[in-house]
Amino acid sequence: MQNWRLDDGRQTLVLAANRERLPEVVYWGAPLPKEDDAAVLSAASKLDVTGGMLDENPDLSICPEAVRTFPGQPGLILRAHDGTPLLPKFCFTGETLEEHALVLDYSDEANGLRYRAEIALDPETHIFTLTSEISADAPIHLHWLSAPVLPAPQHSEEMIDVTGRWCGEFHLNRTAWSPGIRYRENRTGRTGHEHFPALIVPGCGASNTQGEAWGFHYGWSGGHRMVAEELPDGRRQIQFGHAARMETAPSTKFRSAPLYAVYSSDGLNGIAVSFQRHLRDRIVTWPKPEAARPVHYNCWEAVYFDHKLDVLKDIAARASDLGAERFVLDDGWFGQRDDDTSSLSDWEVDTRKYPEGLHPLIDHVHSLGMTFGIWFEPEMINHNSDVFRAHPDWAAGSEDQLLGRQQMALDMSRTDVRDFIYDRMAAILREYPIDYIKWDHNRVLPMPDAAQTRGSYALIDRLRADFPDVEIESCASGGGRIDFGILSRTQRVWLSDSNDALERLRMQHNASLFLPAAITGSHVGPRVCHTSGRTLDIRFRAWVAAQRHMGFEMDPRELSEEEAAVLREVTSWWKHNREWMLDADILRLDSSDPAVIAEQQEARDGHRFVVFAGKAATSAQIAPRPIRLTRLDPNARYKVTLINRNSASTLSRGSPALKDGPVEVSGQYLMSHGITLPWSFPESMWVVEGERL
Ligand code: DGJ
Repeated sequence: MQNWRLDDGRQTLVLAANRERLPEVVYWGAPLPKEDDAAVLSAASKLDVTGGMLDENPDLSICPEAVRTFPGQPGLILRAHDGTPLLPKFCFTGETLEEHALVLDYSDEANGLRYRAEIALDPETHIFTLTSEISADAPIHLHWLSAPVLPAPQHSEEMIDVTGRWCGEFHLNRTAWSPGIRYRENRTGRTGHEHFPALIVPGCGASNTQGEAWGFHYGWSGGHRMVAEELPDGRRQIQFGHAARMETAPSTKFRSAPLYAVYSSDGLNGIAVSFQRHLRDRIVTWPKPEAARPVHYNCWEAVYFDHKLDVLKDIAARASDLGAERFVLDDGWFGQRDDDTSSLSDWEVDTRKYPEGLHPLIDHVHSLGMTFGIWFEPEMINHNSDVFRAHPDWAAGSEDQLLGRQQMALDMSRTDVRDFIYDRMAAILREYPIDYIKWDHNRVLPMPDAAQTRGSYALIDRLRADFPDVEIESCASGGGRIDFGILSRTQRVWLSDSNDALERLRMQHNASLFLPAAITGSHVGPRVCHTSGRTLDIRFRAWVAAQRHMGFEMDPRELSEEEAAVLREVTSWWKHNREWMLDADILRLDSSDPAVIAEQQEARDGHRFVVFAGKAATSAQIAPRPIRLTRLDPNARYKVTLINRNSASTLSRGSPALKDGPVEVSGQYLMSHGITLPWSFPESMWVVEGERL
């Protein structure tokens, strides 16, 4: 019996293997005392055998093998080059164990195969990174390779995964556990609005702030497959890998993307904080880590394709006056791009719109003290483009394929295609002082193909290497490409094309299970939202944007003086607080009123926090229910201030103390009773600052 154990003070993971076989995770949960011997744990957790079944329970190993009578989904499905199915059966060949990392090697001599599992634990963020690799003596076809398989707890009634659509990203989906499989497979070739690659398994009774939970995220942008399976004996397994059959060519080596996993004993927030910190502090590579995140202005919803230099200059001046620090020129500046039917791939400045190139606009933007960013959609091509006319074979997929937004994807697996796009983009980046790219990807692929994703990664990596100061935003019709794979190459995500603050409030809340504020773009949209038709007050729009990486996207010429004043004030508050807020943990609060979506952003050192309580609907009861805070020091005293109490409506006639000024109470009171806010209209936000005294 072999066994291995990884600990970080917050969780223990124990692996045990029967003789030379692949190991099983026999324990993953709250930290165990050192005296708990792995061999004893393995023996103690062994399941009994009864009638009508095999004489032993097949291993639920880190790569369950079909050939060992495993009754569920195997961790690996392969074929030899000639198409013959291979049934691997691995035996131990070696290990490397460090305090927080483990590499295990296995081989199958008969089939000429080797399997390697790498498991690393970050002792600060508490995130496990698990990767599997298969190599072969001769080229093989890969159908399915799971990252190392983890068990799911049996004291859980449901699982939570994430779905969505254009303008409606990050819906949480709850599915009850039952015998069989919850299977999600994204065959779009792109991370997608529909399939954020993650799973949370809450223990029975877990909420945002309490209970146990297990979190998983697969860091890959080409579409994933998730299997959450309950076996007939009751055991549960979680598999994550690339979508099946997306390796189109035989090879002697295949590797999974990293699976990130974490256990929490303090609710979904424990998962969220680990993912937020790991993403911000370990995954994202910041060109200038010390620089403040600038307030953005993006011109898309102001002008769309109608680029006029004098109008853009006027808009830039107004945006700067409101507090913007980076001006992003969106779609429409290149080729003959007057609408979305043409010019993708023709990455040269449209001299009809910009006769002297982009310099006059950029000089103006710089003179206002803002930096300049620009939109590209590098992996795409239109039929109506010079590049397609010259290279019709560069498009991926068949000639009669369905188009998406009138466009096709380029075949990014081809080096000549990547080189061409690189040269065009590099020429723009060399000619102009640009510090930001909004990198869009507006259609799904004609079919899933891992080589396409690797090609996209290679292009981004090359540009990052040659233009290390340029930041990149991952956008795909809003939140269609958000995952730790793309975020190891980019610094911001465009969470959604919906600038509707009401919809954003919920989306941001759910996305914070994985994404920190520093990378989550959020813009103040037009008064009448272009994608929902909803009219929202500037206060609500501004505060919702101020919850994340703030920006503006409306036409500033539509703002009344009062609206501009509100926006200036909230932006200045955001700038004043961004340094600590963008490093803070976002904690989702357990709101006792379903109409209220509330979060607490808490500084790393616990000395200050801000609570955003967004009223998404009219409450069923008359008075606001107190909002209980979390993770405070029960014995410390806190000064809490309702900073926008001047926005109370005249229908708020009573006198909750926060309406009159700061209140000083204990952390225990704030966590046990909560803060009592004034009555408010739906589609409004209360903002409460807290300071530890
Ligand atoms: C889709 C993006 O999500 C929008 O923000 C905008 O950049 C358009 N594409 C431009 O075509």
